[in-house]
Amino acid sequence: MEAPPRELLSAQVISERIRALGQQISADYAGKSLVLLCVLKGSFVFAADLARAIDLPLRVEFLGVRSYGDDTRSSGVVQITLDLTRPISGDHVLLVEDIVDTGLTLTYLREQLLARTPASVKVCTLLHKPARSLKPVEIDYLGFKVEDVFVVGYGLDHAERYRNLPYVGVLGQ
Ligand code: IMP
Ligand code: MG
Repeated sequence: MEAPPRELLSAQVISERIRALGQQISADYAGKSLVLLCVLKGSFVFAADLARAIDLPLRVEFLGVRSYGDDTRSSGVVQITLDLTRPISGDHVLLVEDIVDTGLTLTYLREQLLARTPASVKVCTLLHKPARSLKPVEIDYLGFKVEDVFVVGYGLDHAERYRNLPYVGVLGQ
């Protein structure tokens, strides 16, 4: 039997951090028309928990993006696989990401979204691997910084596996 990924962030630690992020976001966006933009597939679990930690009326949109093959290295190529269902012009958009690694995906997405004239675009990511940054990125809400290891679980995959792990773990250790 294959060993399960080694736990890096427990379900409880993640949930406590999300509660705090939700409170901060609720205070910052009070009275504004907020669109939570869940970047698929990796952030579907995080976005579901984050949405329920925000005590404001909001809309949820999904954007499908592929930046990896079945490899653990960034290809640098970002492909939109699913687009928004409604315009975001005039809305305050909060991009919800699973992880910012090289920053290539986020840089590309921010440019794409700004062209649609939203009132603002901010970024909330569960994880950030600063060691691998290729593009300087502005992160407005951050769950956790992680070392330069390949993480899975809580929505993050390796070759489409492990997305349903309730915690964030490290593969092959
Ligand atoms: P970036 O463009 O290199 O910043 O990569 C962003 C995307 O790559 C994330 O949204 C993830 O889907 C994927 N990714 C980067 N690092 C990891 C990792 O350690 N585990 C799983 N997916 C990752
Ligand atoms: Mg991904």
